[in-house]
Amino acid sequence: MTFNDRTSLLSHLRTRRSGKPRDMVAPGPSDAELDQMIAIAARTPDHGKLAPWRFVIVPKDRRAALAQLLRDAFTAANPQATEAQLEACDRFAYEGEALVVMLSAPVVPSHIPRWEQEMSAGAAAMNLLHAGHALGYVGSWLTGWAAESAAVRDAFGSGEERIVGFFYFGTPGRPLDERPRPDAARIGTRWTG
Ligand SMILES: Cc1cc2nc3c(=O)[nH]c(=O)nc-3n(C[C@H](O)[C@H](O)[C@H](O)COP(=O)(O)O)c2cc1C
Repeated sequence: MTFNDRTSLLSHLRTRRSGKPRDMVAPGPSDAELDQMIAIAARTPDHGKLAPWRFVIVPKDRRAALAQLLRDAFTAANPQATEAQLEACDRFAYEGEALVVMLSAPVVPSHIPRWEQEMSAGAAAMNLLHAGHALGYVGSWLTGWAAESAAVRDAFGSGEERIVGFFYFGTPGRPLDERPRPDAARIGTRWTG
């Protein structure tokens, strides 16, 4: 890695932040860029080489189907759902220029503990965000009720799979807000035992 590559990578790591899906505008990553992002995300520490995660792109022309899925799942779980809550389902389905549903797909039984496989999924998720940001877009990792819904899970996965999150990508439509970051001196200490 050259000095320039190193400094730009460090600058990316020091400054990267997420953007809100509702503030994202076009363009978002192309299909080829999404494939590239998934290939980058797959370069993630993975004990046992199990690849215990996968990525499902929701194309623009499937957003209406996602909105219907979310409305149906929400209404089944909340028969008294209000119109405002159903409109929130629609927003969740339509936000962002690109949407990737990421699944943890643990191999069970395995000699690799499930906890390690799920940690690898979290790490792959972070790499997906890094890849999107490095390509010049902004990303966001959301979960909410939909990530815990059995009906939504069943529409994307099966068996032991769980939704890690909904990953939105696009171009920031407004300046990104910074948020307070943990004090490195508090969270990174020296063991004195
Ligand atoms: C597993 C996980 C789930 C999240 N789910 C939500 C969510 O449902 N709604 C939300 O507003 N933020 C959610 N967040 C937080 C957003 O991704 C937030 O914008 C992010 O922490 C910003 O961090 P960054 O600027 O360092 O990328 C979630 C974060 C993680 C790690």
